[in-house]
Amino acid sequence: MPMATPMILDCDPGHDDALAILLAASHPAIDLLAITTVAGNQTMEKCTINARRICSAAGITDVPIAKGAAEPLLGTLHIGEYVHGVSGLDGPEWGEPTVGVSSESAVELIVRLLREHPEPITLVPVGPLTNIALVLKSHPELKPKIREIVLMGGSTERGNDTPYAEFNIKVDPEAADIVFRSGVQVTMVGLNVTHQALAVPEVLERLSGLGTRMGDLCVELLTFFSASYLRTWGFTSPPLHDAVAVARVIDPTLVECIPVPVVIETMGRFTSGATCVDLHHLTGEPDNALVAMKLDAPRFWDLMIEAVSTYE
Ligand code: BDR
Ligand code: CA
Repeated sequence: MPMATPMILDCDPGHDDALAILLAASHPAIDLLAITTVAGNQTMEKCTINARRICSAAGITDVPIAKGAAEPLLGTLHIGEYVHGVSGLDGPEWGEPTVGVSSESAVELIVRLLREHPEPITLVPVGPLTNIALVLKSHPELKPKIREIVLMGGSTERGNDTPYAEFNIKVDPEAADIVFRSGVQVTMVGLNVTHQALAVPEVLERLSGLGTRMGDLCVELLTFFSASYLRTWGFTSPPLHDAVAVARVIDPTLVECIPVPVVIETMGRFTSGATCVDLHHLTGEPDNALVAMKLDAPRFWDLMIEAVSTYE
């Protein structure tokens, strides 16, 4: 059996982040070294409580959780309460989390793990890229210790937070700019592909058919998420964005990618946070990212439901 990929999940839970945690923590192809949090879907404090909540509910006790950036690099924080609710993880009734939080900050923990781990580590940011940009800027010497950055963010098409910008990139465009220009291998899993991962009614039936507490919890999360997506964008089923980035690490054949140039719009009056993906190589810019284009949705959902079935 091939070695598990050492990975750090940087997230802002968040409904789809919560299922990304369940997938990353349970799959044998991943050695999940840490969960780090960042402000995005809610404040950093709320997102951290939510990471602790989902880990407590799932019995994930051996993965450190560290608090990250509370603000984007520039400007003021804009949160995703309109999608994820006041808690950031609305829907289920949550008890007090039993899993604690690390004494190290997210950046300290990521830096230490990059330094100490014998293998290069895959970073999977599925929220705004603030923590990752801070690591790259403060410790450029550690770039060779990053195997790859597989991020959920951006789009080859239009946005969701503004007409041209996807939420994670829009919250901190300067951080995204640093990541895409870092020279580290970046894989961008954007809306054009995550919108192929729709939690249709059959998915909810399969989850509740597991007959487990975790299956039911996922249904409650996806039911709240579904109402947000219907109200905000008119989707009849919600997309499970963040878990698609984790799936790409587990099995690259699930998510087809192509090498292209990507630049981040940081200045536009109406387009700040847009990912300018040069699909036809018109700009003469060098290829700096692998961009996800197509998801094998049936196999993705098999993987996700199998992951949830490993919990009680
Ligand atoms: C991204 O923004 C958040 O709402 C989700 O958690 C996902 O990471 C989708 O645009
Ligand atoms: Ca997220």
